[in-house]
Amino acid sequence: DGPLAGKHILVTSGPTHEPIDPVRYIANRSSGAQGTSIARALVALGAHVTFVTGPADVAPPDGVTLVQVETAQQMLQAVETALPADAAIFAAAVADWRVASASGSKIKKRKGTLPTLEFAENPDILARVAQMPSGRPRLVVGFAAETDDVVAHATAKRQRKGCDWIVANDVSPATGIMGGSENAVVLISDAGVEEWPRMSKADVAMRLADKIATALTV
Ligand code: C5P
Repeated sequence: DGPLAGKHILVTSGPTHEPIDPVRYIANRSSGAQGTSIARALVALGAHVTFVTGPADVAPPDGVTLVQVETAQQMLQAVETALPADAAIFAAAVADWRVASASGSKIKKRKGTLPTLEFAENPDILARVAQMPSGRPRLVVGFAAETDDVVAHATAKRQRKGCDWIVANDVSPATGIMGGSENAVVLISDAGVEEWPRMSKADVAMRLADKIATALTV
């Protein structure tokens, strides 16, 4: 029931963990709070949500098809498996790089030598889906966490990635947004730039879900 009944929406959330060896990893900071709230709001509007999440701090929402992954490569695989979808919302903080050849055994600490890590670039999941030659979701939404020139960077990112909307926020430490319960976002679409007032992540999610419902039902 609800305006999104019969719609399939894919949501990515949380960080990815990229192993260095079996006990160590590199990752982005991400609690998964905003992505989880968005999935919950979409479910409340009646959508069938596939929720692809990395190892987040917050519990996944109820009522979704849950796919738990560790790495960016696994996340891409899970996203490709979950398609087709009417909309895809990329709220995950995907690590840009992985360790090129993760060690199968724990790297030992040795006196006088330091390990050197070589990186490989991870796939850009959002860009891949946004630029799919066929079967692209009707609405593709990306996020941009910026610390300066939020609108300029996010506008450029929307162009580069080929997504329909970018939800941008200022994650400078002073804002307390990263890991906090509130968010202040700017929504960038072909209609222009919309600045939303600071509100709870749950309210950002509900407002975004309403806009998604409108976009998918016109
Ligand atoms: O390029 P940047 O990481 O700042 O872009 C952020 C947006 O791109 C987010 O929506 C994020 O989920 C998505 N992304 C992705 N795969 C990556 C990197 C970012 O889906 N490898």
